[in-house]
Amino acid sequence: MRILGIETSCDETAAAVVDDGVHVRSSVVASQLATHGKYGGVVPELASREHVRAIVPVVRAALEEAQSDYADLTAVAATSGPGLVGSLLVGLTFAKAISFARRRPFIGVNHIEGHIYAVVLEAKQRGEIIELPALALVVSGGHTHLFEVTPGFRYRLLGKTRDDAAGEAYDKVAKLLGFGYPGGPVIDRLAAHGNPDAVRFTLARMKGNPLDFSFSGLKTAVLRWTRERDLTSEIEARRQLLRRNPRPSLEDWLAVTPQTTLDLLASFQRTVIEELLRRAAAAAEQVHARALIVSGGVACNSGLRAAARQLALPYPVYFPSPQLSTDNAAMIAAAAFPKLERGEFDALTLPATARLRLA
Ligand code: KG4
Ligand code: ZN
Repeated sequence: MRILGIETSCDETAAAVVDDGVHVRSSVVASQLATHGKYGGVVPELASREHVRAIVPVVRAALEEAQSDYADLTAVAATSGPGLVGSLLVGLTFAKAISFARRRPFIGVNHIEGHIYAVVLEAKQRGEIIELPALALVVSGGHTHLFEVTPGFRYRLLGKTRDDAAGEAYDKVAKLLGFGYPGGPVIDRLAAHGNPDAVRFTLARMKGNPLDFSFSGLKTAVLRWTRERDLTSEIEARRQLLRRNPRPSLEDWLAVTPQTTLDLLASFQRTVIEELLRRAAAAAEQVHARALIVSGGVACNSGLRAAARQLALPYPVYFPSPQLSTDNAAMIAAAAFPKLERGEFDALTLPATARLRLA
């Protein structure tokens, strides 16, 4: 059973062909980094236009790479939310058009469930079965959510961020310090060169649900730290570097980043990781989870992966490979597969929903 998956919820135009929810025949991702980088974040209107430009070539490339054709598809799936409505509409409408023209069933997928299925897909490829109930920590630029995943892949929301998502905190701190967009990858690489104990940030204490997250206090603390020092010239040096070279190497960054700033980045990253893992472990214990799934763009973070390993938790911890951690369409096709098996199809009237909930 072959599914064409399409993902356009934010700033990547992606298409993938996946057989039986496990064999990835192709996965094409066109990033819009070049468009949004200079603005320090995603500009929704520009994102929509870029998707319109990219959708036909990206889908065509995915089909070609898979040595497939519309005629070979069993179903077409696309992300219907959450995300930017203008962006979502491009992939969703394209998928509906293929479904209508080729008389193939159409399946709408929740982007967050897609991130969880990135892990399920790769476990299947290794012939492993993830034991349920599992605890899923979905951490990306838009989400920081903890779900209990119960048998049959049903979801119960246990906690979520009350303000910024973890990836958003990375992106805002990077923007503030002149590291460009997205902030996660660069801070991750530079944090390895700093002292994580140098700056003490207080951990967020949550009134009400102790499994909720908050990252805005940390962001404000970083802002305060920078205001107490004069960083104008180093920030300007980094902005100039980015203007000369949109993809600086580690050495380029190190040349314009003093040790105190590296220490700040390491301390910031350590605090984010502590917040994430502390609550994930507490939630896992609460529901007697038999596995922990970490997914979403922030799951790429090398510090987070290392810290999760070091915790030596009494259940397996699953991270997707980096190319399936950030937005892609293979995870969307994989999440659509059980729906195809159950014959759970969507009408072509299915709307794009900016704040679509998983649970
Ligand atoms: O899943 P994703 O591609 O898009 C959303 O659904 O939001 O995640 C993108 C987010 C960005 O905020 C980016 O800064 C963050 O993931 N990210 C990272 C790393 N790589 C990407 N954050 C921390 N460390 C990384 N290595
Ligand atoms: Zn995502």
